[in-house]
Amino acid sequence: MTTAQRPRKTSSTPKPQPRRRLDLVPQFYLDLEDAEMVVTDTLVAIKDTIVETVEARAMSLIYGDPGLGKTFSTKAALQEMDPDLVLTLDLARSNPGPKDLREELFHQMHLKTKMPGTPTAFDRLLREALPRRPYVIVADEAQQYNRVSFEFLRKLWDNCRPRPAIVFIGSPEAYTTLQSDPALASRLYMRQEILAMSEDDVLTIIPESHPVWRGVEAGLLQHLDGDFAQGSFREWAKATRFAVKGLKRFKTDQVDRALIDWVLSQVVRTDYATA
Ligand SMILES: Nc1ncnc2c1ncn2[C@@H]1O[C@H](COP(=O)(O)OP(=O)(O)OP(=O)(O)O)[C@@H](O)[C@H]1O
Ligand SMILES: [Mg+2]
Repeated sequence: MTTAQRPRKTSSTPKPQPRRRLDLVPQFYLDLEDAEMVVTDTLVAIKDTIVETVEARAMSLIYGDPGLGKTFSTKAALQEMDPDLVLTLDLARSNPGPKDLREELFHQMHLKTKMPGTPTAFDRLLREALPRRPYVIVADEAQQYNRVSFEFLRKLWDNCRPRPAIVFIGSPEAYTTLQSDPALASRLYMRQEILAMSEDDVLTIIPESHPVWRGVEAGLLQHLDGDFAQGSFREWAKATRFAVKGLKRFKTDQVDRALIDWVLSQVVRTDYATA
């Protein structure tokens, strides 16, 4: 006896899919065409720090100089979490104060109540709402926060049971501000410093990051890195765009010394020490 292949009826209704959040997708600087995500040690270390911080319901800091991949890797890590639990404090204004942070948390949690009018009522509401789900607060650009804002988040963390996980991401300045507050410093669980790519890292990572660098002589990559990019992913993205442009302009498919020198003539050097 043969049986027809019919789709089986299942009693369970399909689970609603978590909504996709475009703001959590890692972005390539300059929207570089054909750029690829590279699973670097930095990306893995940031993922590990975030996962450990979330599991411990702790507060941690990821810090390092600009352009090294902190935000990119953080977003890559957040892709694996329920987007409804991620509360990003990406604030439009610089130097956000507690008022900005309260309002942003309120919006991110999609609370259906009216926004409280006083700080005390607001804090009471947040202390009730945050423990309802295992939220992860992600505070990028934390160098913009002053001590009062850090202190606000620390008190919120102290007063919630269960606690939210909080990941601060910022420049070395954020590290200094956090360390200067003993109550905060003592509560930080992990401090993950992010460093620029070493010369050896560049030789393995950069050819994987974009097809234009595949098969290019190691000495040329070292020359570009030493003279310009200094192990910064963002600087490499700038150089990559010019390399692609140069190949078209000179009607060649050869990344040679002349092309590298042309790229170097195009890129604007960024000197963070004097910026
Ligand atoms: N693992 C990676 N694979 C591919 N490209 C990457 C990777 N990490 C970083 N990049 C590239 O480097 C760019 C800069 O990274 P990102 O914005 O994360 O730096 P950042 O450390 O957050 O800098 P800032 O402190 O200025 O915010 C990214 O937009 C992307 O183009
Ligand atoms: Mg960033």
